[in-house]
Amino acid sequence: MLEKIDKTVEFLKSRSSMRPKIAIVLGTGLGPLADNIEVTDAIPYSEIPGFRTSTVQGHSGKLIFGTLAGVPVLAMQGRLHFYEGYPMSDIVFPVRVMWRMGIKVLMVSNAAGGLNPKYVPGDIMLIQDHINLFPEHPLHGPNDERMGPRFPDMGNAYDKDLIALAEKIASENSFPVCKGVYVGTQGPTFETLAEYRYFRIIGGDSVGMSTVPEVIAARHCGVKCFGVSVVANVGLDAEANAVSHEEVQQNTKKAQENLSLLFTEMVRRMKVE
Ligand code: HPA
Repeated sequence: MLEKIDKTVEFLKSRSSMRPKIAIVLGTGLGPLADNIEVTDAIPYSEIPGFRTSTVQGHSGKLIFGTLAGVPVLAMQGRLHFYEGYPMSDIVFPVRVMWRMGIKVLMVSNAAGGLNPKYVPGDIMLIQDHINLFPEHPLHGPNDERMGPRFPDMGNAYDKDLIALAEKIASENSFPVCKGVYVGTQGPTFETLAEYRYFRIIGGDSVGMSTVPEVIAARHCGVKCFGVSVVANVGLDAEANAVSHEEVQQNTKKAQENLSLLFTEMVRRMKVE
């Protein structure tokens, strides 16, 4: 695995001389955050050895080298989902490549269903913790100690200092954010009403089909993580229960402006060692 990762790293280093320390995964409908990035190189996943291309509408697959607020960043425009049929090792491969490229911080965004009854579509939820309900674990199988430990600690999966920085930026710019627990599930079906209730009972505030695999792989190799859910629909509201992919994309649009500002300011002010 490490040899395969290093081949890809070699390829990417030959394509760009930039060596960013911060990576951003742009989730469903949040691609426009990329407009704030001054792009130096954009490489389609199809050209990158070992990368698979996403099959989902609205997830055009490109790896972007550029600067955000003058700071070098590596951005994934489009990501793979487990429901597309890929093995977990393919889904987390880009994260491992980023780690090997020298990335220290991974910032992730996703569109999610709201479980907390106080949430309304368009809310930005800072992910404080997650519950992993994927049927396959990204670290299943032999462990390569050069990448990380056999039994990684997940007690500090989402970096507390980065959450505090995000709250500070939101408050300074007078937009609301909330904090909560993200439930990661395989999809591709949205939840039944009973499932939304169940995920609420076990401690979830939002539910979605991504993020958890990437965060697990990143924490395994010591990369700090920061994640946000944009609430696209509120699961327990029967009226809003007819969820469609179009609806999800529309609601996430509302949050884009605030989220772009949040990520940009975080990148500007974050201390990465
Ligand atoms: N459930 C799971 N994933 C989602 C949802 C949802 O209600 N909305 C957007 N992504």
